Amino acid sequence: MLPKTFILARRNRLERGCGLAEAFRISIDQLDREPYMSIICYPRPSEQEFRTRLEELRKLDITELQFKGEKEVFNTPVLGKGYVGVVVIAVRDDRKEALKIRRVDADRVQMQHEGEMLKRANSLYVGPKLLKVGENFLLMQFIDGLLLPAWLEINRERKQAANLLREVLEQCWRLDKAGLDHGELSHAPKHIIINRNGKPFIVDFESASEDRRPSNVTSICQFLFIGGAVAEEVAEILGRVDKETLIDALRDYKKYGTREGFKRVLEVCNISDNVS
Ligand SMILES: Nc1ncnc2c1ncn2[C@@H]1O[C@H](COP(=O)(O)OP(=O)(O)OP(=O)(O)O)[C@@H](O)[C@H]1O
Ligand SMILES: [Mg+2]
Repeated sequence: MLPKTFILARRNRLERGCGLAEAFRISIDQLDREPYMSIICYPRPSEQEFRTRLEELRKLDITELQFKGEKEVFNTPVLGKGYVGVVVIAVRDDRKEALKIRRVDADRVQMQHEGEMLKRANSLYVGPKLLKVGENFLLMQFIDGLLLPAWLEINRERKQAANLLREVLEQCWRLDKAGLDHGELSHAPKHIIINRNGKPFIVDFESASEDRRPSNVTSICQFLFIGGAVAEEVAEILGRVDKETLIDALRDYKKYGTREGFKRVLEVCNISDNVS
């Protein structure tokens, strides 16, 4: 168990936006300098690529980018960075949205697939709302909140954590039923963001597929209740799960895919709330 003073200090730091209270706000016309050119064309800028991308940003009606967040690229704070993209805040119609910028070295040549998968997820009330997708950018609803591991560090109340994880599993159930496999939920420390109202959002549908057998519920249970640091944290808050029993329940769920089987999984994970 983490000492209370540590939790309070971390909460203060996170709630202040990791010490970066104010975002750097850069209008679209001021992006043609470093480090912004390199962020738009991460990790290697080229004049031509930058011009193409700037044009695409204008077509998306983006007027400003804001640099804020827990991650850094070229000493500049951003919302996130992965193998495919760098994610920053973009302003469109005076609203803050999240912009995933395709890395120039990404193994995807465009963002269309991710856009399609996210749209499909949105139809199931899952994921940040897709706004627009282009060759190099995906514009979506900005989720202002914390990634699950950070959220669990400062939200130690049993009922609140159980409600949150049940909602995550419900979303996974809907994805399973619809035949949409997220593909990266067995290790998801960066793929669940909880907004300020306590609502979880599953992000990053670039590896998602409708052509595989979906395993969202089993994968997320592996991550949340069976192995790894997050499962340890969850066990501290909710109590230990009997792993053998959970594996049996998941096997049945996987085999029959029934709502009964799903409810049994919730029970074994100590997050059941008499769901119908
Ligand atoms: N809609 C959003 N609102 C706020 N933050 C977001 C949003 N989407 C993504 N992020 C942040 O950006 C990070 C990286 O996003 P994402 O996982 O989509 O990128 P990626 O390049 O595919 O990463 P990876 O290589 O880990 O798969 C996320 O972990 C999250 O912290
Ligand atoms: Mg990804």
